[in-house]
Amino acid sequence: MPVFRARVLSPVGPREIDYWEDGVVVVEDQWITEVGPYDGLPIDEDLRPGLLTPGFVDGHVHFPQARIVGAASGPLLRWLERSVFPEEARFADVEYASAVAREFCDALARAGTTLALIYGSVHAEACQCLLEELDRRGLRAIVGPVLMDQGAPPELLRPKERALADLAALEERWRDHPRLKIAVIPRFALSCSEEMMRAAAALASERGLWVSTHISENLEECQLTRDRFSAPDYLEVYERVGLIHERTVLAHCIHLSAGEWDRVAGAGSVVAHCPDSNAFLGSGSMPIAEALSREVPLTLGSDVAAGRSLRIPTAMAYAHDNGLRTNERLDPRQLLWWGTRGGAQALGHDQVGALRVGMVADMVLHALPERIQGEEAVLASLLFDGDRPAPLRTWVGGREL
Ligand code: GUN
Ligand code: ZN
Repeated sequence: MPVFRARVLSPVGPREIDYWEDGVVVVEDQWITEVGPYDGLPIDEDLRPGLLTPGFVDGHVHFPQARIVGAASGPLLRWLERSVFPEEARFADVEYASAVAREFCDALARAGTTLALIYGSVHAEACQCLLEELDRRGLRAIVGPVLMDQGAPPELLRPKERALADLAALEERWRDHPRLKIAVIPRFALSCSEEMMRAAAALASERGLWVSTHISENLEECQLTRDRFSAPDYLEVYERVGLIHERTVLAHCIHLSAGEWDRVAGAGSVVAHCPDSNAFLGSGSMPIAEALSREVPLTLGSDVAAGRSLRIPTAMAYAHDNGLRTNERLDPRQLLWWGTRGGAQALGHDQVGALRVGMVADMVLHALPERIQGEEAVLASLLFDGDRPAPLRTWVGGREL
């Protein structure tokens, strides 16, 4: 039963946090059994002046892009062709996939990410390598290979029957895992036939699986999508085949119309906001007010490798900048919410994301100079000090990674 004394910061609600300059967190098995101001309890570890926060949630990240961070060959479609597809083709080799899985899991843990929605390559075997590594490390994740049956180099295409049979087998293999779930991920409309998307949606509905895809990221992509599917807007392409519902995570959502935003909200779908990626590829700025005003559940995505950092506090800082560009000054507490508890809830993980009695202990320890004191300054440093050191320690379910 470790008893930690530390500075403690946790979200309580979308714009409410708890902060204790001298706090205590008690963990029994995987559970938080006490949290609050330090009350004289005998302690196991004094972590002060370090700061304990909940683990971070990454709602959109690509495993097979871990080695191409920084490839600045945007805009989107050119970057996919020149930088992404050649790298993802390497994941046909399971030894390569295993090596990158080790690096990627190390990097997630070092970034303080404890829950992530992870896109794989098309290769189910590479996904299996990643799942084994996530399992070994003890991370929490929702993972799937991307589905592609057109619009990519031939070695990266999988016909619908094979892709979905492989995905179904992967799901059966991991079904009872306590921390890992399989997702259905038609990569985006331009890499899928309508039949592929329809069959993917059916599999997800039958088995109650999460769906994720990219939408409305880049104007050229939007135009090509409407043309290819003879659709009045992008969202309708996914709606027609049954992909849009309350277990769907939509990455980007930069160029949606007001009507599309209404339909996303009406369906109860989740938006993965990827502000670094959107800026780095020059895709545009997501109008965050459209999501806020409709109370669309939101998670932040690093979107590595279009995003340049796995650190979710960095995504929070970029979301702040994106907000200013779209005339919205976001409360730092709101940013913290999206990157922790709000993001976890949006991804169906109601038991993590805050340091609160009764919740599962997914936590991160941050170095923080003693001179930085008080709720506002501590939160500002966590989110906006670009030279902040990497987290010192990370726990998932009370177990240190
Ligand atoms: N759209 C389709 N595939 C991708 C991808 O890998 N990254 C991003 N940012 N957008 C995409
Ligand atoms: Zn992406």
